[in-house]
Amino acid sequence: MCHYCGCRQVSLIRDYIAEHERATDLAGDALRAIDVADYDKARRCVEAMAAGLASHWQGEENGLFTVMGREEEFAGYIAPLVQEHRALAAFLAVVDVTDPRDQERLRREVVELDEHIAKEEDGLFPAALTSLSGRDWDESMRAWRKAHPGEELISD
Ligand SMILES: [Fe+2]
Ligand SMILES: [Fe+2]
Repeated sequence: MCHYCGCRQVSLIRDYIAEHERATDLAGDALRAIDVADYDKARRCVEAMAAGLASHWQGEENGLFTVMGREEEFAGYIAPLVQEHRALAAFLAVVDVTDPRDQERLRREVVELDEHIAKEEDGLFPAALTSLSGRDWDESMRAWRKAHPGEELISD
């Protein structure tokens, strides 16, 4: 990766998007497992989803969100996204996949997660690509590394 052509930025964004895909795939697997009353599998999927999202959110919040949040124009867009992280984390920590009410809520939360992801992928990330400095990207990348100890960004 170099410092001039934008490839660092694109790599980080591409990784965030891959993390979104992983979370939504696991969510789909969890819902399908609930449909066939395979609650052990549903529980494993929800746990894996919660763990993946925890590091994803840490990487976003301490990285891209922190640097973009310093700009007034983005701060108001980012605050609700962080609240959505907190709300979903709280639910995933206590969800009982065998409880019909929780199952319904999980379905709604997965739809809301899709909407949340769209706000990032269609709004925030494109804005980041045109507004962040090299130093901002370095800071975002450092936060990602801290949130994913021993891992490397996904390369193509
Ligand atoms: Fe997010
Ligand atoms: Fe995200």
